[in-house]
Amino acid sequence: MTEDGKSQAALWILTAAFIANFPAVVAAKSPNVVFILADDFGWYDVGYHSSEIRTPNLDRLSAKGVRLENYYVQPLCTPSRNQLMTGRYQIHMGMQHQIIWPCQPYCVPLDEKLLPQLMKEAGYDTHMVGKWHLGMYKKDCLPTRRGFDTYFGYLTGSEDYFTHHRCYNIPQLNLTRCALDLRDGEEAVTAYKGIYSTELFSQRAISIIRKHNSSKPLFLYVALQAVHAPLQVPERYVAPYSFIKDNHRRLYAGMVSAMDEAVGNISLALRQEGLWDNTVLVFSTDNGGQTLSGGSNWPLRGRKWSLWEGGVRGVGFVASPLLKKPGTVNRELIHVSDWLPTLVGLAGGSTNGTKSLDGFNMWNTISKGFASPRLELLHNIDALYNDIAPCPGRQSRLTLARGVSADSWASSSFNTSIHAAIRASNWKLLTGYPGCDVWFPRPGHNSSTSGSSKVDPLKPVMLFDVEKDPEERNEVSAKFPNVVDYLLNRLQHHQKRALPINFPDNDPRCDPGPTGAWGPWALD
Ligand SMILES: *[C@@H]1O[C@H](CO)[C@@H](O)[C@H](O)[C@H]1NC(C)=O
Ligand SMILES: *[C@@H]1O[C@H](CO)[C@@H](O)[C@H](O)[C@H]1NC(C)=O
Ligand SMILES: *[C@@H]1O[C@H](CO)[C@@H](O)[C@H](O)[C@H]1NC(C)=O
Ligand SMILES: *[C@@H]1O[C@H](CO)[C@@H](O)[C@H](O)[C@H]1NC(C)=O
Repeated sequence: MTEDGKSQAALWILTAAFIANFPAVVAAKSPNVVFILADDFGWYDVGYHSSEIRTPNLDRLSAKGVRLENYYVQPLCTPSRNQLMTGRYQIHMGMQHQIIWPCQPYCVPLDEKLLPQLMKEAGYDTHMVGKWHLGMYKKDCLPTRRGFDTYFGYLTGSEDYFTHHRCYNIPQLNLTRCALDLRDGEEAVTAYKGIYSTELFSQRAISIIRKHNSSKPLFLYVALQAVHAPLQVPERYVAPYSFIKDNHRRLYAGMVSAMDEAVGNISLALRQEGLWDNTVLVFSTDNGGQTLSGGSNWPLRGRKWSLWEGGVRGVGFVASPLLKKPGTVNRELIHVSDWLPTLVGLAGGSTNGTKSLDGFNMWNTISKGFASPRLELLHNIDALYNDIAPCPGRQSRLTLARGVSADSWASSSFNTSIHAAIRASNWKLLTGYPGCDVWFPRPGHNSSTSGSSKVDPLKPVMLFDVEKDPEERNEVSAKFPNVVDYLLNRLQHHQKRALPINFPDNDPRCDPGPTGAWGPWALD
């Protein structure tokens, strides 16, 4: 062997040793991931969007992290959670319509591989606290059967913050059933009656953090009940908001303060346990604020349950000492479906086993400010869309639906009476009835634009340059017919690949009885 050959051999041995040890090295250094999801938290409800509501912890964490200001979620609870857990658009699961109601016998399809399963395969301990809302009619649908080592929380979409009881009308049985919805693992638990859920869930998250053995990385998903209706909050959180005259907004502000404190407590526990230096904390809302329950998305148009920016542009940020450009505001296009590839990538894991992903790995975009790999965003396509809440200034939903039937794009391959929206770079196209389209006034301010007088009639096809016009005030489809054609074709492309909507009738066997708990009723 020549000298050269020897040194090459030595190098080869070193390299081989390095490769052999690599998985262990990576595993030891994999960052902890803590994902905090708020419920129905609106664009104008965070301090750093100049809200009158105070969120010192969210402001401080995000100021040292990266604020995501061109970040999108789905307009409703189940769809956002679904996309977070699968990295895929809900049209690919037949779940493009509404949410899962307590008695509907379906869940995120069991052949979808979920984020916690992938994190587990990457060597993580996986824990979930809070709201599931991805289906529970049979045991295989539960979080403990879908990748989480432990679970503590509630399975339906909303409930009482203190009693942890959910009331739901089951028309098939002609009764409204109020029953417990709180589980530790798979067992219903009655011992927490009277404890405010924002405190209950943050205490549980903190106890998981304290017990965590740091020889393994931690994946903790905290899906807070806050700040979804009902408007319930201990008095001490509301006291600082006596200046807010609107009763709903005042109570809501108190709920936001409790949530902000919960996030502060969780981040403090991570520091106290020495985990923070190697932790990535993500904070996100699940959809826009609900104006009927104190939320605000000002100055954006619309609200939760609509495809206007007020429904889908979300509050979100990442806080972590691992960020390469901390203290920045990020304006790259990022979507809730992007977390799965992003977090599995950070974990050093593999997305092998998932179906075709719609999300992108955004870590370089978030951490280093690189351009987003996402060129398009399908907000949704839902041929059965209906808005169940009243929309001020609009006479009735039916009038609107009829008003959008005839149009100049009628020959397009995509049926423009269908509720849909798609985004490509600065352009956003909406078809059908997008949902309540009001510019709700800034809380504490009156505004003439909230009435019906100044609102133009809705058109079946609407185009906005949301980069220049995030308030969606200037409809420009007539000026850019080529953009409209292109985006209608893209909608048709997605619609062809959508599964038929799965939205089953209530199964009356869901009834837990007066002393039972909401939970799995069907045999596997
Ligand atoms: C449903 O229940 C209400 C009150 O319990 C009763 O008055 C009504 O007759 C019931 N309707 C049917 C269709 O059974
Ligand atoms: C935060 O921690 C403090 C101190 O332990 C506690 O009093 C408070 O209830 C916690 N807040 C929440 C929302 O859990
Ligand atoms: C943490 O886990 C490692 C590896 O399994 C084990 O050796 C160690 O004893 C654990 N530490 C504690 C405090 O449980
Ligand atoms: C992906 O997973 C399958 C089945 O678990 C396995 O056979 C295959 O080797 C994996 N591929 C990669 C690239 O890890």
